Amino acid sequence: MVRPQFSQLDEAGRLRHFLTTEGLCRETLTDILDTAESFAAVGKRAVKKVPLLRGKTVVNLFFEPSTRTLTTFELAAKRLSADVMNINLRRSATVKGESLLDTLRTLEAMHCDMFVVRHASSGAAHFIARNVAPHISVMNGGDGRHAHPSQALIDVFTLRRHKPDFSKLRVAIVGDIAHSRVARSQINTLLTLGVREVRIVAPRTLLPPVPEALGAKVCLSLEEGLRDVDAVMMLRIQHERIQGPLLPSIHEYFQCYGLTEKKLAVARPDAIVMHPGPLNRGVEIDSEVADGPRSVILQQVSHGIAIRMAVMSMILGRRNGVEEPG
Ligand code: CP
Repeated sequence: MVRPQFSQLDEAGRLRHFLTTEGLCRETLTDILDTAESFAAVGKRAVKKVPLLRGKTVVNLFFEPSTRTLTTFELAAKRLSADVMNINLRRSATVKGESLLDTLRTLEAMHCDMFVVRHASSGAAHFIARNVAPHISVMNGGDGRHAHPSQALIDVFTLRRHKPDFSKLRVAIVGDIAHSRVARSQINTLLTLGVREVRIVAPRTLLPPVPEALGAKVCLSLEEGLRDVDAVMMLRIQHERIQGPLLPSIHEYFQCYGLTEKKLAVARPDAIVMHPGPLNRGVEIDSEVADGPRSVILQQVSHGIAIRMAVMSMILGRRNGVEEPG
């Protein structure tokens, strides 16, 4: 039997779920970024709330630790006036042996409208989206090494604010590409939005088996990877997804791939430094760079709220009959 292909879009091509950036066209991605600009303005008001999702219920289902993603999804939903529940999975029935599907059925029975899912397994958000009731939408808060679509949009939103003409940009993504869901979503989003050159920079052991398949230029040397770039996106080593030693030592990794002011000198003088977090100082990035004038890392965190408000409102606001921020 041929299984029908699962789509995160509805029949009209609009977002019904938000699971991956793959398959989303430039217009849809740009629409999210433009909508997020309006919500960033809302975040600067004295009253940071709009009534777009009044009466809707968003449930954060995080099976893996998170600081930025969980809190900004929660704030985003609250600023849209939705009711929000964070399920503490250590205290939920899943630890008593209840299956994921039975937990979903239980939450569905409470008339929720959206699940935000983070899970250690690649494909978990798709699995949940396939199995929820038709009135529920799923947003992927990061699944295994597969995708972290809202993080990629935060990163390109931040990049666009500093460097709006993507057709001129060279961007380097540096670090553990092999195990990073963020890298996959970043590469896909940057290429779809027309960035001139995307480079991935890592030792062979932290690249996937066929790195060229990602569509980016592969650089094994940090100096080659950083030369003349407009932006550097650093990644941490994803220890939780690594089995066995892939690096001689953290010290040696920092010597070869850790970002310092000295190594950054080959990038363009106005190059910006980004990191989706959590960042490991002295492993992939030196404090002098992380806290320096070219770092936009904390701006990325702030933009997390606007991007997540944008996507939630595009999915759920439509059902309330409203499209734009108030
Ligand atoms: N960038 C990111 O996903 O961070 P958290 O793990 O803190 O959510």
